[in-house]
Amino acid sequence: MRIDIITVLPEILNGPLDHSIIKRARDKGLAEIYIHNLRDYSDDKHRRVDDYSYSKGAGMVMAIRPIEKAVNSLKKERHYDEIIFTTPDGKLFDQKEANMLSMKKNIIILCGHYKGVDQRVRDHLITMEISIGDYVLTGGELAAAVITDSIIRLLPGVISDETSALSDSFQDNLLSPPVYTRPADYKGMKVPEILLSGNDKLIDDWKHQQAVERTKNLRPDLYQKYLKNNS
Ligand code: ADE
Repeated sequence: MRIDIITVLPEILNGPLDHSIIKRARDKGLAEIYIHNLRDYSDDKHRRVDDYSYSKGAGMVMAIRPIEKAVNSLKKERHYDEIIFTTPDGKLFDQKEANMLSMKKNIIILCGHYKGVDQRVRDHLITMEISIGDYVLTGGELAAAVITDSIIRLLPGVISDETSALSDSFQDNLLSPPVYTRPADYKGMKVPEILLSGNDKLIDDWKHQQAVERTKNLRPDLYQKYLKNNS
């Protein structure tokens, strides 16, 4: 899978997408991530990509021309399944959305900035608008990194234990059960007895029951979805 990210701040994205599991996925050729500086597509001698808003006092707005140039230069090379815009007024991102995007071949993510982007970009160039939560970031770069990370880790071969991504929190509307490692007794704080029993069936039942209990207490909204899907 290939993800092209268009941004005015490439430095922010290089860090988060160049370590650990994501770096390995890129090195193994399981995922291609390209980060493009929107300023490279500006016609302006100062490489500006924003302009004054037609509504007075509304701040600067990302202009359509450099964005269209950047998107078109990518689209000339290959077909893109989705062209995503990161914005706090987009559709709320969740695991279902990450699963869906992980099955695409090529996607573009355009990072929002300033007070917004010329509405014509959203109306004519973008196929999907995504928010990563009900709070406002200074720009869409961290949102693009979150979306990219959540997609790449789902690609086959990226996480060594094949079942690991499928047993994540949220995949079945349940949070993950608690996990423990050695020592079995740390200053009187004990690992639950059942995990030391060696009985796989009992341990699996316990994990499931813990996941249900946790979800019920911590995320009643998810728990309702879980009940609905399992009734
Ligand atoms: N840009 C600023 N805030 C954002 C958010 N919550 N999600 C996606 N993009 C954003």
